[in-house]
Amino acid sequence: MNIGALVLDNPLILAPMAGITQLPFRRLAKEAGCALVVTEMVSSKGLVQGGKKTAEFLKSHPAERPLSAQIFGADPEVMKEAAQIVQAQGADIVDINLGCSVRKVVKQGAGVALMREPKRLETILKAVRKAVSLPFTVKIRSGWQPSGDEAITAGRIAENAGVDALAIHPRTALQGFGGRADWSLIARLKDRLSIPVIGNGDVCTPDDVVKMQRETGCDAVMIGRASIGNPWIFAQSLDLLHARKPRPPDLSTRLQGILRHIDYAVDHFGETRAVRMMRSHLGWFVKGLPGCSSFRREIVRLESRHDMRDAVQTYFRELETSAIETLAQI
Ligand SMILES: Cc1cc2nc3c(=O)[nH]c(=O)nc-3n(C[C@H](O)[C@H](O)[C@H](O)COP(=O)(O)O)c2cc1C
Repeated sequence: MNIGALVLDNPLILAPMAGITQLPFRRLAKEAGCALVVTEMVSSKGLVQGGKKTAEFLKSHPAERPLSAQIFGADPEVMKEAAQIVQAQGADIVDINLGCSVRKVVKQGAGVALMREPKRLETILKAVRKAVSLPFTVKIRSGWQPSGDEAITAGRIAENAGVDALAIHPRTALQGFGGRADWSLIARLKDRLSIPVIGNGDVCTPDDVVKMQRETGCDAVMIGRASIGNPWIFAQSLDLLHARKPRPPDLSTRLQGILRHIDYAVDHFGETRAVRMMRSHLGWFVKGLPGCSSFRREIVRLESRHDMRDAVQTYFRELETSAIETLAQI
């Protein structure tokens, strides 16, 4: 699949997730085989005003490329400037968030609020398109009405404005994460648009990747929540796409991945912040494994990279000796 001039190695994309798809986790997802990673969303206003957070947001590593950077906002001028910053800082794609339904974002007229403001949406997309030569994508929801008509309108506006690809999470603004994603809307968009359509929503297993492609004809599949604590879903999905039996990650793959994640996080955030945020990730990594509750209780007390690595290694040693049979069934 192509996004503008950019060619993706395969049709698997890590979804943007605030608080999750920061550089350390993106690297793990990339190592597991996804073709494209996306930053968490960042405010265009914040980006233009600069500051420490901005530098952190756009920090990348050659190993994770290509990188898509997602911005949100409602002011065409500010969005244009933010897109120019994204381009100048070396991201490979600029993505605009048209799907966030969090009150704080919608109140500013940004995120999914733009899906009921077609004129403003068009102005923003045209301004950004004119300002950058980077491949340019948008990520939308169904809109505000369950009919999905607003998604079709937004898709047409995007295509006419020169957007190179569109991702859709087919839930309405009011649905949040409730109910089920309406994959039939992905198929409708694919039918109506000539730019590539990336399907997203409720892809929980490698089988779902194949199912979404088959049912909707989408050009690529974007995975969010199912990759949290399990970036290896990309490797397993690739197996399936290549007609191989998906191989669950063995203990050593998991352990080495987690240890690398800790190291990447310390490099990116510094030890104190990294250790705190890695507590959540570790909890997700061990979900469903034997003895995970006591491991979780233990890690909340840890304050250093050394102690965290040590605790993880000890836990995995115990798993290896005592629970291999249980794991084989996970
Ligand atoms: C914790 C979390 C943070 C998210 N942050 C963003 C974001 O920053 N930008 C965005 O476009 N979508 C964001 N999303 C939505 C996801 O990208 C995705 O559309 C949604 O989770 C549905 O896909 P899934 O069923 O594969 O998780 C977020 C989702 C979660 C769970």
